[in-house]
Amino acid sequence: DSPLRIGLAGLGTVGASLARLLSTRAQTYALRAGRPIKIVAVSARDRSRDRGVDLSAMAWFDDPVELASKAEIDLFVELVGGSEGAALASVKAALNRGIPVVTANKALLAHHGVELAKLGQKKNATIFFEAAAAGGIPIIKTMREALRGNAVHRVYGILNGTCNYMLTRMEKEGIAFDDCLADAQRLGYAEADPTFDIGGFDAAHKLALLTSLAFGCEIDLDSIFIEGISSVTNADIEAAAELGYRIKLLAVAQRTDSGIEQRVHPTMIPAHSALAQVDGVTNAVAVDTDLLGSILLVGPGAGGNATASAVLSDVLDMAKGVRLPTFAVDAKQLAPYKRARMRAHEGGYYIRLS
Ligand code: HSE
Repeated sequence: DSPLRIGLAGLGTVGASLARLLSTRAQTYALRAGRPIKIVAVSARDRSRDRGVDLSAMAWFDDPVELASKAEIDLFVELVGGSEGAALASVKAALNRGIPVVTANKALLAHHGVELAKLGQKKNATIFFEAAAAGGIPIIKTMREALRGNAVHRVYGILNGTCNYMLTRMEKEGIAFDDCLADAQRLGYAEADPTFDIGGFDAAHKLALLTSLAFGCEIDLDSIFIEGISSVTNADIEAAAELGYRIKLLAVAQRTDSGIEQRVHPTMIPAHSALAQVDGVTNAVAVDTDLLGSILLVGPGAGGNATASAVLSDVLDMAKGVRLPTFAVDAKQLAPYKRARMRAHEGGYYIRLS
C-alpha cells in the first residue's frame, strides 16, 4: 500500500518524540495502520539541533505555512503551538487543500476551533486533536466516541500538569513557587510561555474544548472564569492541609438551570478524595453522565512520549480512514454557547465532588 505522507511542523518536545517513534516503531505502526507511515516534510526553528532523529530524507521547510501549502503530503501534523501566527495560518492552508490535520494545539482550537472545524468540513478534511487536552489521557475519544449515548452533566479535573507538579512539590517538599516552576520548565512540561500554565489559561483552553464535546455547543473561551495559581503560597497549602484539604487547580464545566458554567481556579478539595491523590505532572478528568454515572481518567498530562502517544492515535486513525466530526456533532450543528448566570459564590473555590 502507498505510504501515508506526513508533513510535520514543530520539532519541540512532542514533535521530536513523535518523529523518533515513527522511525523506531515504523514496522509496528505500518501493521496497525495497514500502510507505512512516513514523515516526508518537516519544519522547525532550528535545522541543526540534534533531536535524535535523522531528518535527511525529509524535505525541510523554514516556514510551516509553506510546508502546509506546498508539500506533497496526505496529513499535516501541527505541533508549532500558539493560537495565531504560523500555527493558525498553516492549519488553514492544509485544510484549504483538503488535507486533514492532527494537532496538539489547545490554544489554537480554543480560539478558532469552530471556524477551523467548519472549514475542514467544507473541504472534507478532518481535524484530530486527541493530544490537545490532558496530554496522553484519551479524553477526546472518550467524550466524542465512547460517551456518545450519554448526556453529560459535568466535566472537571486537573488539566495542567505544570501546575499540579508545582503544587505537589510545594506541598510535599516545601519548595518555593519559582523553583518548582523552573524545574517544570526544565522537564519540558511548561508551555513556551509559562504564564499560560500558572495563569490558568492553558487549563482554560483545554476546558473550552471539553465543554464543546460535553454539551455539543460552540467553544466560548471568553466565558470562562479564570484564576491561576500565582498567588498560592506554601503557607496556603499548609493551612489547607491542616483543615484536611489539598489545593488543586481545577477546571470545571457544568450544565446548570440557566446555561453552562465554566471555571478554572485553585480549589480546596478533601484530602481523601480520588482527585486529591493525583500528584505531580499527572492529569485527571472526571465526567458525570446520566447513563454511566461518574468516571475518572488519570494519566500523564504532559511530556514528550505521553503527548506523542495521543498524537499517534490520531495519526493511526487518520491512516485507517477514520472520519468523525471534529467536535461532538458537525461543526454547523453546534448549539450556541449559553453562559450560566454566575451566582456570587461560583467565582469562588468550591466544588461538590461526586
Ligand atoms: N504545559 C502543559 C501542561 C502541557 O503543563 O499541562 C500539556 O498541555
